[in-house]
Amino acid sequence: MAEHVAINRDYWDGMAEDWVAAGERLWACTVPEWGNWGVPDSELGLLPQDMAGMDTIELGCGTGYVSGWMARRGARVTGIDVSSRQLATARRLAEQHRADIEFIEGNAEAVEKPDGTFDFAISEYGAAIWCDPEVWLREAWRLLRPGGHLVFLGSHPMTIICSPMNGAPCDFTLHRPYRDMDAVDWTAVEIEPGGIEFNRSFEGWLRLFGEIGFAVRDYRELYAPETASGIRFPIPAEWAKRYPCEQVWRVEKAG
Ligand SMILES: C[S@@+](CC[C@H](N)C(=O)[O-])C[C@H]1O[C@@H](n2cnc3c(N)ncnc32)[C@H](O)[C@@H]1O
Repeated sequence: MAEHVAINRDYWDGMAEDWVAAGERLWACTVPEWGNWGVPDSELGLLPQDMAGMDTIELGCGTGYVSGWMARRGARVTGIDVSSRQLATARRLAEQHRADIEFIEGNAEAVEKPDGTFDFAISEYGAAIWCDPEVWLREAWRLLRPGGHLVFLGSHPMTIICSPMNGAPCDFTLHRPYRDMDAVDWTAVEIEPGGIEFNRSFEGWLRLFGEIGFAVRDYRELYAPETASGIRFPIPAEWAKRYPCEQVWRVEKAG
């Protein structure tokens, strides 16, 4: 197992208790809502309305609510996560909501499933930010059938370059180079140490999709709504009304 995977697993095992309440709330949502600011799915359309008969996987499923939403739309769902403690919540909530989901404890960079098992793959702040794109995107491509879609939502590169080196909330200064921001190590920062996150410049993402064999079908930049206030994870609403704090890629495995 790569070092960043073990570091991130330990980080998430340690954080799992803090994510139970959010998991319970999101499992109960009848309409999916996405990301830091809860953008309704009616605005983003990340999930097909009818997923009947689709084989789907959530990569880095955490408490499993995205898997739950897919199951409710008729999909056969697999959720993989490296944290046994996050999965314990996911399993409990799936049982409570009577959702039939296969949960696997494992690394989304190396999933023990045959090539071409899935029609649709998704990650909301799972593999999308905690796994090395060089590795997990190739793995997602392998797992998908030709024509299958991968949708992933995570931090926008702007949030990385505007984040102070000590872990304080992002602000209006460029603190980090845009070039070579591929892995950001939050383990030793002064304020709220975290794990190791990954991102790319736009050119970097596009180059990687092209190398792997993914065609870009959509790209969205998400802002905080005008009504938002305060700070979330650790993005100030006033910042996120002016700069995109999240991005969503939808890519298709070339048929
Ligand atoms: C913020 S959660 C995202 C899941 C869900 N959307 C949520 O918010 O609860 C991040 C998850 O990614 C998982 N994760 C981190 N690295 C992983 C890896 N290499 N393979 C699988 N899961 C991973 C963590 O264990 C954690 O449960």
